[in-house]
Amino acid sequence: MSTESNRARSKARHVAIIMDGNGRWAKRKHLPRAMGHQRGVEAVRKLVRAVEPMGLDCLTLYAFSSENWKRPEEEVDDLMNLLRKFIKSDLPEFVANDVRLKIIGDYKALAPDIVAQLEDALEKTSQGSRILAVALNYGSQDEIVRAARHAADEGEVTADSIERHLDTAGLPPLDLLIRTSGEVRLSNFLLWQCAYAEMVFVDTLWPDFTPEHLQQALDDFASRERRYGGR
Ligand code: IPE
Ligand code: IPE
Ligand code: MG
Repeated sequence: MSTESNRARSKARHVAIIMDGNGRWAKRKHLPRAMGHQRGVEAVRKLVRAVEPMGLDCLTLYAFSSENWKRPEEEVDDLMNLLRKFIKSDLPEFVANDVRLKIIGDYKALAPDIVAQLEDALEKTSQGSRILAVALNYGSQDEIVRAARHAADEGEVTADSIERHLDTAGLPPLDLLIRTSGEVRLSNFLLWQCAYAEMVFVDTLWPDFTPEHLQQALDDFASRERRYGGR
């Protein structure tokens, strides 16, 4: 494959974001951590609204990891309450704007009222064409183990059969992974799917991340040559 053809096809369809830095944002402003998370939700809302004009088919957001249960109970409660509020307030907008919600991760282990809210939102957005995938109680190692078990139950364990059972099955291949806040690690996010994804790490703390920052990352992505091991 020539460089030209790799570049010509370099418009990202699927972008995933590790939304990190809410706590540090609040700390810098001498505000409670909860305020950082609240402003983080506002950054999500603005970004989801901007995705259509950017031509993305799928945006995947890391909202709560399977390891985030280790945080103090009060913070976990704050995050769960923000999730409840977010679904309630933004669901009508998703439906009106052709957004299809998808959840990755073991969301059924969340509180029963949240599970019910999420399932209602999944149903009401099922006709949408642009996917917003939200990772909730998500851990990539767990996802791969679950997928490998399913694949083994069905017969042969191959890369294809595992992939068919990942939580992300049916989503476009991941093109670009972004992490905010200056940390350069994956924190158990999309380990399998990142095999040939491009990566952009930015210092911006999540509540300060705007659609312009996403556009910059997309521009950076568009200038990269993806080789997939070939030459
Ligand atoms: C990201 O911000 C939000 C979640 C992980 C839920 P953090 O809460 O991790 O913020 P920092 O990393 O402590 O600044
Ligand atoms: C990753 O951020 C999880 C989410 C953004 C939801 P963390 O803040 O939990 O990651 P570590 O602990 O810094 O690796
Ligand atoms: Mg963090």
